[in-house]
Amino acid sequence: MIALLVLLMTPFAGVQAGAAADLELGRHLSSECMTCHGAAQASAIPKIFGHEPATFAEVMKAYRDKSLPNEAMQTVAARLNDEDIASLALYFATAKSPTKKPD
Ligand code: HEC
Repeated sequence: MIALLVLLMTPFAGVQAGAAADLELGRHLSSECMTCHGAAQASAIPKIFGHEPATFAEVMKAYRDKSLPNEAMQTVAARLNDEDIASLALYFATAKSPTKKPD
């Protein structure tokens, strides 16, 4: 019975994001992002924690297809596939910013 349920549910896994999001992959990939985005809060680089995953993925894909202008981000995004982007979106939506000071 349980095997049947798993079988029935499998086709729907990952459909929502368009690509499978893997939190651990996102955490791994995020270290590169933090060299810029982990800098002081006062810097001109925007904070990327706590965004809606769908919005985050859209922005990353816009950098990748160069419809958003920023050379640094275009270069970074060019190396990411859809699964990487979905995983980063999940990670940054759920992780706490390490630069945020404890209240
Ligand atoms: C070389 C520095 C650098 C690296 C590395 C970098 N970014 Fe960025 N990122 C920027 C800058 C600068 C901007 C602001 C661009 C602008 O204002 O047009 C930006 C903007 C963004 C934005 C848009 C935020 C907003 O509110 O508009 C997102 C999302 C983002 N980066 C995600 C990432 C992710 C995910 C990674 C790692 C895969 C990453 N960035 C790596 C420099 C970097």
